Amino acid sequence: MPDSHTHIQEILTSGREGATYSIRGWIYRTRSSGSIVFSVIRDQTGIIQCTIKKSDVPAEEFSGAQKALIESSVECTGELKRDERAPGGFELRVLNYRVVSFADPFPITANQSEPFLLDNRHLWIRSREQTAVMKIKESVLQGAREWFRANAFFEVTPPILTTNACEGGTTLFSLKYFGQEAYLSQSAQMYLEAMTVSLEKVFALTPSFRAEKSRTPRHLTEYWHMEAEEAWVDNAGNMKIQEELVSAIASAVASRRKQELEILGRSAGELKAIEPPFERITYTRAVEILNGKGKELEWGDDLGTEEERLLTEEFEKPLFVTSYPKQLKAFYMKDNEEDTRTYKCADMLAPEGFGEIIGGSERETDYDKLVQRMNEQNISMEPYRWYLDLRKYGSVTHSGFGMGIERVVRWLCRLEHIRDATPFPRTPSRIYP
Ligand code: 4AD
Ligand code: MG
Repeated sequence: MPDSHTHIQEILTSGREGATYSIRGWIYRTRSSGSIVFSVIRDQTGIIQCTIKKSDVPAEEFSGAQKALIESSVECTGELKRDERAPGGFELRVLNYRVVSFADPFPITANQSEPFLLDNRHLWIRSREQTAVMKIKESVLQGAREWFRANAFFEVTPPILTTNACEGGTTLFSLKYFGQEAYLSQSAQMYLEAMTVSLEKVFALTPSFRAEKSRTPRHLTEYWHMEAEEAWVDNAGNMKIQEELVSAIASAVASRRKQELEILGRSAGELKAIEPPFERITYTRAVEILNGKGKELEWGDDLGTEEERLLTEEFEKPLFVTSYPKQLKAFYMKDNEEDTRTYKCADMLAPEGFGEIIGGSERETDYDKLVQRMNEQNISMEPYRWYLDLRKYGSVTHSGFGMGIERVVRWLCRLEHIRDATPFPRTPSRIYP
């Protein structure tokens, strides 16, 4: 259906002075002085000033323009004029101005508290910053999908309701499933492993759930998880896939979202420079570096938010930390023959202190080793019978990883808190709106 309305950005970049355009959107700012109203209109692409003179429009349209508060929805038609004082350098001299819906006084004004903004998240997502983040997130997802498609991965649809704990029992959300105990998925990994035997290279985008009480700027209880799994690929190959993927995502955002990055104070050039190879260091080396920076850390201690910040603060590109001690990672990872205290695994840490954005590993293919570890860790075998089966029928070297989409968006947008990387954040203290 042809649209008789033009988006504001199109008018600002390729509009002809003197031509007539119709736009529709929401009032971003408005002020009136007697016989003239200046109302700045916003649509999804940008803002433009509309000047409504009493003598140019029907009387009831002028009084509507005078009365309409910010966030009222409007349709208007006007003639494009150059005006250096207006945002974008142009304004519309309005010929028709129709208020579609008069807004109540908008509750969000300048300098409001964070809890207030979170309670009014359904309204706050209209802000220019939030809109920019949502667009960048869309480009992250799109860029990732394009990379996967170009590299012969199949997108698949694993379940969200499960009976097993992929990432350990402590962060499970449990629910009753017709009288049976079930959980919300923490990771699609095990299902993806099963699907590699049909499709070889697969990926999925699913919500993942973690009942983490930790109130940190990088934990959500519900997040979007992009996971990949690849048959015939070892841990080194897995890392290559990850760095190419992340570079492709950064490049997609840099080329498509220049304006949005600017709104957030980030330059596209910085993201363009995120190219392979990313540096790789072992966990053991990471502990040495941290000790050198004055952190008292022993081999076997976990790397938390602070440790990852110290490791990555001087970097401009992401960094892989490989070969973590077994006690820090899940039972399904592959033994590392080069250092038997560790697994063949890697976390990708984002630079400038942002920390872990990807967790990945080669998977253990040996049935007996898996069973032995599960026994040692008191993991009940029953929910994993199907998973163990995969080792009995044509098991091959395979690897995979999971990337937290909001972690990536937080880093690319340089956001202080992960909750701003998602429109309706879920944290231990928030499930409304
Ligand atoms: O490191 P994690 O726990 O690894 C897994 O779930 C693997 N089974 C993935 C796989 O190999 N298929 O989680 C993967 C990523 C983390 O690196 C992080 O980016 C993100 O998921 N993540 C979270 N993001 C937001 N809030 C949380 N609470 C998160 N927990 C993990
Ligand atoms: Mg992890």
